[in-house]
Amino acid sequence: MKILYVYAHPEPKSFNGALKDTALAALQEKGHEVKLSDLYAMKFHPVLKASDFPERKNLEIFNPFLEAIKAIKTGAFSSDIKEEMEKVKWADLLIFQFPIYFTAMPAIMKGWIDRVLAPGFGFDPVTNSAYDTGLFKGKSAMLVTTTGAPKEIYSEGGAHGDLNRHLEPVTHCVFEYMGMKVLPSYIIYEASAMKWERGAEELEKYKQRLLEL
Ligand SMILES: Cc1cc2nc3c(=O)[nH]c(=O)nc-3n(C[C@H](O)[C@H](O)[C@H](O)COP(=O)(O)O)c2cc1C
Repeated sequence: MKILYVYAHPEPKSFNGALKDTALAALQEKGHEVKLSDLYAMKFHPVLKASDFPERKNLEIFNPFLEAIKAIKTGAFSSDIKEEMEKVKWADLLIFQFPIYFTAMPAIMKGWIDRVLAPGFGFDPVTNSAYDTGLFKGKSAMLVTTTGAPKEIYSEGGAHGDLNRHLEPVTHCVFEYMGMKVLPSYIIYEASAMKWERGAEELEKYKQRLLEL
């Protein structure tokens, strides 16, 4: 399988860094082809802006939605977006790994979604192609995330509510919207309070999950 691993953590020596290294080794061991987008290491620019569109159609008013729909026909996006779009086109499975920041993905990863999964790329508002007719039909996606808070707080009836529900703006309204099949999110709770032994156990469990893919 061709796998794009999109990863966001600012510190390579973090638990997330170890999780990512474990994942890359396990996927390669299983014979998958893997491409990595390590967003902090790449210094990925997360803010959608006019220069994302080098052949702007309307120079008077910047309308990113309309510019994207036009640019998708010619491929006229800035080079950092084009490189990431090529990886998405290539991939059968997209894995997004990140620590939870305020019950969501870090801004750098949301910015990757805003800029790379541009209107017209995974869905077509002109022909109303979304969900069952989403343009990424045949691809799959999976979120892998770590929390500081314990599972009880992120469960139905807990103070925050079910974390899976908070992830739906991405799993449902982005990935499924674009026609992708969404695999169950892989969540490691209370990652910041982990002792070394539990950390090693969690790395092994995640490795086994990836070997099952
Ligand atoms: C800006 C910021 C916001 C955070 N928000 C949350 C949160 O909303 N819920 C939560 O459980 N943990 C939150 N955390 C804690 C991180 O998710 C946690 O430290 C991380 O998953 C541990 O993995 P690491 O050791 O690889 O960084 C936040 C951390 C930061 C830095």
